[in-house]
Amino acid sequence: MASLWARKSTAQLADEAAQGEGDGAGHLPKRSLSALNLVGLGVGGIIGAGIFVLTGHAAAANAGPAVTLSFILGAVASAFAGLCYAEMSSTVPISGSAYTYAYATLGELIAWIIGWDLILEYAVGAIAVAIGWSGYVVSFARDFGLVFPARFVSPPFSFDATQHVWSSTGAILNIPAVAVIVLITTLLVIGIRESAWFNNFIVAVKLIVIALFLICAAPAFSTANWVTPSNPAGAFMPPNAGVGIYGWSGVLRGAAVVFFAYIGFDAVSTTAQEARTPMRDMPIGILGSLAICAALYVAVGLVLTGIVPFDRLNVPDPIAVGIDAAGVGWLSPFVKLGIVFGLNSVILVMLLAQPRIFRAMAHDGLLPRAAAKIHPRFRTPYVSTIGTGVVVAVFAGLLPIELVGELVSIGTLFAFTVVSLGTLALRITEPGLARPFRSPAIWIVAPCGAATSIFLMFGLPIDTWIRLAVWLAIGLAIYFFYGSRHSRMAASG
Ligand code: ALA
Repeated sequence: MASLWARKSTAQLADEAAQGEGDGAGHLPKRSLSALNLVGLGVGGIIGAGIFVLTGHAAAANAGPAVTLSFILGAVASAFAGLCYAEMSSTVPISGSAYTYAYATLGELIAWIIGWDLILEYAVGAIAVAIGWSGYVVSFARDFGLVFPARFVSPPFSFDATQHVWSSTGAILNIPAVAVIVLITTLLVIGIRESAWFNNFIVAVKLIVIALFLICAAPAFSTANWVTPSNPAGAFMPPNAGVGIYGWSGVLRGAAVVFFAYIGFDAVSTTAQEARTPMRDMPIGILGSLAICAALYVAVGLVLTGIVPFDRLNVPDPIAVGIDAAGVGWLSPFVKLGIVFGLNSVILVMLLAQPRIFRAMAHDGLLPRAAAKIHPRFRTPYVSTIGTGVVVAVFAGLLPIELVGELVSIGTLFAFTVVSLGTLALRITEPGLARPFRSPAIWIVAPCGAATSIFLMFGLPIDTWIRLAVWLAIGLAIYFFYGSRHSRMAASG
């Protein structure tokens, strides 16, 4: 228990960074990722179900054409946090992401809370995107006359958020969602270099798909499409119709929903020990990928709501609906295929990040040591990768997407808040520390990072807050029964 508030010293962190976090058996991870690989990993992890699926929902239900503003709001919150992540990852270049930063700045207990919270971002995020992937695969196959039996492509349970009740759907298992997790887990066990190559290929495909969409659909843009029954005057921001429904409160709720679309740039920071020059390349990877995605999202939001009335966008494939409305239906199969590829790389990055956080936690004794094991031949954290893959595959096969999406957003916003505060804390406690990348105006950036993240969290419904609280309570129980008793800090202190 003595270790509760213990912080890792910067000397200790530097030592770990120099040695790499081996598994104690002399096996170290490979340093194989370049700056371009890192930007690729970021973009690969960022562009996915958020832009391709949730944009339509946020436009139809919350913000209307002003979903463009929701995207800007999401970008602002992410940029503040991104600057903090960039500073932290260049100062503390050790895998583990927000978990490691919290250990260095706010102590072991907060680090554990964040590590536990990040499961919501990465493992649960992978579940959400795998379910979305399954939906697009089924839709793509249907275009070619291949109809899968619904029992094998849907979850056995559904959850009604307004009535708070679970019900059985009669389905057995979402098999495509399980299959994609099993495939990607296998790829990640084999090796990160191959995975990064695969990711870069997919990133190129989805950037081409988005560019094609923008170029082919933009000529059909007309503000006449802003007119709908709920927006008879055709305003850019439809009149408010209740909390979270149009007007500014709708823009905020929309921002909290589409925030999901920005999640992923921070995953770059979890590969710090596999980067060739982490000091220089981490900030490039994080901020570069974020900037590219923000520009694309704002453009897609604007074009999509300008080519089809927003009340028709609450569908699983809003981009395809937009393409049809713009009169370029021939593009549809290409776009769906690109999206199927695109979602693949998001799952890959999430399943890459999660085991690395588990490995860092196991290395510190907060999780069983086995989770830190590196494969002697592939040199990947295979035990934690396979463990994550199995659990994620099971839940991806069983759960509905609505339930998991908002949980991912709130968990990530919570992590962003802590990282922003931690960056400031480290500036105060260790002002002389070498910081290869220093965030400009940290006294503004860090508080704004925390404030904008909390602001977006307030855009999410109370149910989601309750789920976050329950999850964190479970995590605390595990820490007090296991982590605090096995902590290496406690043993060395
Ligand atoms: N940003 C990721 C996505 O949009 C999570 O799917």
